[in-house]
Amino acid sequence: MPPARAADRILRPIPKSGETIPAVGLGTWQAFDVAGDASETAQARETLKALVELGGRLIDSSPMYGSAESVSGQLAEELGVKSKLFIATKVWTSGKQAGIRQMEDSMRKLRVERLDLMQVHNLVDAGTHLATLREWRTAGRVRYLGVTHYHAGAHGDLEKYIRPGDLDFVQVNYSLAEPEAERRLLPAATASRTAVIVNRPFAEGAMFGQVKGKALPDWAKEIGCETWAQFFLKWILGHPAVTCVIPGTRNAKHVADNLAAASGTLPDEAMRRKMAAHFASL
Ligand SMILES: NC(=O)c1ccc[n+]([C@@H]2O[C@H](COP(=O)([O-])OP(=O)(O)OC[C@H]3O[C@@H](n4cnc5c(N)ncnc54)[C@H](OP(=O)(O)O)[C@@H]3O)[C@@H](O)[C@H]2O)c1
Repeated sequence: MPPARAADRILRPIPKSGETIPAVGLGTWQAFDVAGDASETAQARETLKALVELGGRLIDSSPMYGSAESVSGQLAEELGVKSKLFIATKVWTSGKQAGIRQMEDSMRKLRVERLDLMQVHNLVDAGTHLATLREWRTAGRVRYLGVTHYHAGAHGDLEKYIRPGDLDFVQVNYSLAEPEAERRLLPAATASRTAVIVNRPFAEGAMFGQVKGKALPDWAKEIGCETWAQFFLKWILGHPAVTCVIPGTRNAKHVADNLAAASGTLPDEAMRRKMAAHFASL
């Protein structure tokens, strides 16, 4: 198969604006918390370079991720790719003033004057920060706002926040290993025209343990899967509510592998059921 081209990327619209973004992005938790280690920073640089060269745009960070914001900001500037990225980060603290200080700090670290997306991390003091962020969105300091969580126990709370329809994004765990979001949250996102970012697409890497040493089924070729990563990501992207999935990595080869999932055919509902049954049987 020829190398994937950036122009082949599947784009998905952000429902509230119609702006499109590539359907696979990059998570920076752990992977980009590498300030002070030259060789790991070089790996992160290659990873970010590969993301942009292969047509990816969204990177997701948080003040919770150690040096990931400042490393991302530094590398994006050095590589001259800041304007190509769709930069998402989070606020993760309590209190209005503490939130404002942290969000301004994040913008400095990421070296941007305006963030594409600011999300309330794990719903910490969400009401307070969303009030600030609605003002910031009106003032043009952030383009989009949203809420995140990583655990099915919080899906009901996420749903309450998105139901009224004035949030732009919800970020949530969703994978073959953690499919609970499709019961209520993903339909609620569609109903409220909320974009969905999927975190933990490989259950933090654990899903590769489940398939270790096992070959892909022959029929995976029908939807263009050459690796297990692509099998897992295409299953996620086959859900129409999903806007972008953000696998975490500091490995440029893995970025190429992951971005290849955002091209070609995606599974329909029947194929997704077959994929889920196969994964459950392993
Ligand atoms: N509450 C929240 O808001 C929240 C919570 C969790 C996560 N997140 C966001 O979601 C992102 C993704 O979640 P995650 O990092 O926890 O877990 P994940 O993406 O499910 O898994 C990451 C693991 O998968 C491996 N991996 C990535 N691509 C691979 C490939 N093509 N082949 C083989 N292994 C591959 C990585 O190893 P290598 O490094 O070796 O590639 C890493 O160990 C985070 O980075 C973060 O940005 C947000």
